[in-house]
Amino acid sequence: MPIEVIPTGAALGAEIRGVDLADPLSDEDFAAVDHAYNTHGVIFFRDQKLSPPQQVAFTRRFGEIDYNIFGERWSVTGSPEIVVVSNITENGKPIGIRRAGENWHSDMCYTARPPRGTMLYAVEIPALHGLTLGDTEFASAAAAYDDLPDAMRQRLEGRKAVFDFAGRKRAFPPTAEEIARNPPVRHPIVRTHPRTGRKCLYVMRDDCTAIEEIDQDEAEALIAALADHIIKPAYVYRHVWRPGDLLLWDNCSAQHRAIQDYDMPLRRLMHRTTMGGAMPA
Ligand code: SIN
Repeated sequence: MPIEVIPTGAALGAEIRGVDLADPLSDEDFAAVDHAYNTHGVIFFRDQKLSPPQQVAFTRRFGEIDYNIFGERWSVTGSPEIVVVSNITENGKPIGIRRAGENWHSDMCYTARPPRGTMLYAVEIPALHGLTLGDTEFASAAAAYDDLPDAMRQRLEGRKAVFDFAGRKRAFPPTAEEIARNPPVRHPIVRTHPRTGRKCLYVMRDDCTAIEEIDQDEAEALIAALADHIIKPAYVYRHVWRPGDLLLWDNCSAQHRAIQDYDMPLRRLMHRTTMGGAMPA
């Protein structure tokens, strides 16, 4: 069956049909998937049946795998590349990281080489009265850049922001040792997508704590204004999950947040893998 790419109609996102990810993709099919991913920023495949090794194998098609810091505490047995994202507790213990990513963010922006992208496989999705909960929202940082007035583009040209691992409040606060391992880094506020050449805003609340050569009060106001601009409804796609969805997002052209509108006994279980990245430019 030929691969079909069906855009969501929002500023980003497309569904890919005609692919069974349990089988290795031909180079030609992988190139079509990779192209759709770069072009749409978020792509998803419905009705997949993926074992942890199959998810890891598919992630490896995009290059090296990055290990998320929370995988050290919550990974799939036998697959350390997969972080368990879940609200489920068993025997009084959480089986995965809870409330992961509930604020708008781009994954691991606090590292020197943030990951190219992230993959989430939906194992269990909560529903109440037949209505699905636990959606994920995505915002196009590329479309948000395109709409900036020229004066703002000039103001941001060549500027770098400080990204601080300790800036964001987390459901599971990191240890002092984890904070020490992740000292603040600096990245351009406007990144150039390494594959499409598209310019993308790279700024968010909490993680971004300052802007080089700008007074702190002014920098905080600018960070807040840009962060709010990126998540305007015109740039957002909201994904309603189904069990068996495998979804990939691009951490340069998209930001995301998880909607936390459910709790036990409603269960949400996701398997997350992360692609290696490069220094933002
Ligand atoms: C994340 O930010 O990685 C989690 C997203 C989600 O669980 O929907």
